[in-house]
Amino acid sequence: MYTQAGQFSKETTHDVLVVGLSKNGHLDSGAATVNTLINGQLDELKKQGLLSTDKGELRSFFTFGQANTPTILTLGLGSKDELTTEDIRELAGKIGKKAKADRVTNLAISLDAFTNDSLSSQEIAFLFGEGLALSTYEVVDYKEKSNKPDKQLESITFYSESADQLVEAATEGRAYATGANYTRTLVNTPANLLTPTDLAGEAEKLADKYGFKLEVLEEEDMKRLGMGALLAVTAGSDQPAKLIVLTYQGTDKWENAIGLVGKGITFDAGGISLKPAAGMHEMKMDMGGAGAVLGAMESIGQLKPDVNVVAVIPSAENMINGSALKPGDVVRAMTGKTIEIRNTDAEGRLILADAVAYARQLGVDYLVDVATLTGAVVVALGDYTTGAITNNDAWMKKVTEASEVVGEWIWQLPSHKPYKKMLATSNVADLNNAPGRAGGSITAGLFIGEFVEDTPWVHLDIAGTAWQDKATANGPAGATGAMARTLTRLVVSHT
Ligand code: BES
Ligand code: ZN
Ligand code: ZN
Repeated sequence: MYTQAGQFSKETTHDVLVVGLSKNGHLDSGAATVNTLINGQLDELKKQGLLSTDKGELRSFFTFGQANTPTILTLGLGSKDELTTEDIRELAGKIGKKAKADRVTNLAISLDAFTNDSLSSQEIAFLFGEGLALSTYEVVDYKEKSNKPDKQLESITFYSESADQLVEAATEGRAYATGANYTRTLVNTPANLLTPTDLAGEAEKLADKYGFKLEVLEEEDMKRLGMGALLAVTAGSDQPAKLIVLTYQGTDKWENAIGLVGKGITFDAGGISLKPAAGMHEMKMDMGGAGAVLGAMESIGQLKPDVNVVAVIPSAENMINGSALKPGDVVRAMTGKTIEIRNTDAEGRLILADAVAYARQLGVDYLVDVATLTGAVVVALGDYTTGAITNNDAWMKKVTEASEVVGEWIWQLPSHKPYKKMLATSNVADLNNAPGRAGGSITAGLFIGEFVEDTPWVHLDIAGTAWQDKATANGPAGATGAMARTLTRLVVSHT
């Protein structure tokens, strides 16, 4: 996939060479070589303002036989000294999208133009590996004449004078992106084609590919373990629920393990507290947390960090049949706590209650749960920021740092005592699963917190961030793959 080379020349053959143009800087050596090959025309075009140096502006021109590479694509960098990791990821995305539109398979990038005092060529290569893979992701449709791409990027060459290990860095960046892209595919898949059983099948594929240990609990196992909350949700569905457990052991001794728990509702109709028809089709995305966890496991399988990880995915449908859970029902979770069901549409916290408890039983030292949990988080934070709740500020800081490295945003919500009291408002049970609209994302998160005891825990509500209605530089409309890369980074940095 990737190659590192010193100098672009007349003889080297690619479909396209990308050259970065800074507003104030000189041409980097790759661009200077191109300039010489085409008799100074690059400089000339730049001078005439035909090649924009504005950040993100693309222009392409032909070399007309003066070099074996027929097309040069210039990319404006603005003031290159101000470029951040976020900018580079976005610029890589622009190149990726253009390459995809032009059906490029063999791309070359003159890399040194992108470096500055805070970004080494190795970091740039990482970000290109990540950004190119994210931006060229395609939501494959099911039309008679499918949009499955017939051509894709196969070979990427980095021209650089640096001695840094660029191929390794780009491969690492790509590992983050392929995990997130896998998340996207899972989340984009219609609910009839991705049932809890199918999701368990996906976990099995990962186990086979990377040697993870796999355990899938069936409903009889859940009964034996007293998982009344998870079983309550699946009662209304004809599809059997699954509790999927994937284990990756990265050190000789099992210690310091991270538990990643993901909400895997493959379709959320709301149950008896039925959702409105408009927009209900989007509830195929309600396994976005499970998707993020499986995406992270894909990346972890590739990166093989010296860290121990347990992925726990409770998966069910939230449907209505004659056995469905009813408002007013009281159920008992695995830990013994009882829950009064005030709203059957608040099902995510129910399945997660038993899943985090099971993760603790398996022996994890840290917990993160990821879930498309509440509409309220969209009201609070919109589509671009994931809401968080924690019981441990130091662990929260680690999760936030990880998210910042990969360019995802998290915002911690408050969890003062009065919010916790809102959960204890049932006359007949320990907990009320739907205490009301006010502070809905906070009480939902804290409900899960009732089952993690003292294990350092962060809850991530991705109801707003898991899906985008419009394409961005780094991906098409549809599933975003939110939090897959954050989880990967969190695990990789956990030493
Ligand atoms: N899956 C939904 C939350 C959701 C909303 C995900 C929008 C993605 C986009 C969740 O199960 C739900 O229905 N939550 C209810 C909770 C309420 C009944 C307390 C909600 O947010 O309305
Ligand atoms: Zn729901
Ligand atoms: Zn839901």
